[in-house]
Amino acid sequence: MGRVEEALRAGKTAVDAALLAALDRRFDAPDREASPLYRAMRDALAAGGKRLRPVLLLRSAELVGGRAADALYAAAALEFIHTYSLIHDDLPAMDDADLRRGRPTMHKVYGEGLAVLAGDALLTEAFALLAEGTPAISDERARRAALTIAGGAGVRGMVRGQELDLLHERRVATHEAARAIHRHKTAAMFEAAAQAGAILGGGTESQVAALAEYGLNLGLAFQIRDDLLDVEGRTADTGKPTGLDAAEGKCSYPAAVGVEASRAEIARLIDAAVAALAGFGAAAWFFVGMAKLIGERTA
Ligand code: IPE
Ligand code: IPE
Ligand code: MG
Ligand code: MG
Ligand code: MG
Repeated sequence: MGRVEEALRAGKTAVDAALLAALDRRFDAPDREASPLYRAMRDALAAGGKRLRPVLLLRSAELVGGRAADALYAAAALEFIHTYSLIHDDLPAMDDADLRRGRPTMHKVYGEGLAVLAGDALLTEAFALLAEGTPAISDERARRAALTIAGGAGVRGMVRGQELDLLHERRVATHEAARAIHRHKTAAMFEAAAQAGAILGGGTESQVAALAEYGLNLGLAFQIRDDLLDVEGRTADTGKPTGLDAAEGKCSYPAAVGVEASRAEIARLIDAAVAALAGFGAAAWFFVGMAKLIGERTA
């Protein structure tokens, strides 16, 4: 395993532990094991997942001279939000997916009502975690990071993108529409991850901006790759159904511009992501490697 994969794995291990600890801190009812809501939230968080956004946040904090341990609370909050977005994305009213991370989706296991509530709870508790903060981070930095994450997740970011995604279903797919959808539904969360990490780590304004630019380009490439995997990936690798975008008439990149142009766009975006961090020099090795991996990922 290369240095970048090793770093991703170590980051994932740290995030996995922080997530479950954060859930148990927020949900400390004595009878929680009997609560279907708790079990649904825990199952959703523990089901695996690559943890790319929280690892990006932690590494961004480190790149600008901060400590990953001090940013772990925000990384957990970000993954709570990502997990909620997947639960809701899979609902019959949205993508109507029955498989996620190789397992039946939340609404298949717990029913639609509890799936909606588990998502609601993860989103709400994420902002409780962000508001609590952590002693090592100043209130001002924690506040800015929370606002950044809200920006990536809410009506200027992911939720807006999910709205556009629904509005463009079964319409003629254009490059412009696909870009706007991907920019909001996915790239905004990667942008927020890198930006919030840089803020928490005490980066300068130009470092924060460079990392935000990296996250944005990486996130766009990530979602185009996701679209390609829906066309030509394997459920055994992705843990998700294939062919769903075509079946639902999604405005995906392959639908808008074709497979070859999608690949070319990924390459261009990966280069743009890497170029954004030129000022960090060799210290940005992890980010360069992560961008290359995301451009080629099969899972
Ligand atoms: C899936 O994200 C949703 C998209 C934006 C394509 P990931 O592929 O990061 O999902 P997990 O967390 O690793 O399962
Ligand atoms: C999801 O995009 C983006 C989210 C904000 C959850 P997709 O609908 O393509 O994600 P998958 O393929 O279901 O993971
Ligand atoms: Mg979707
Ligand atoms: Mg989906
Ligand atoms: Mg997809």
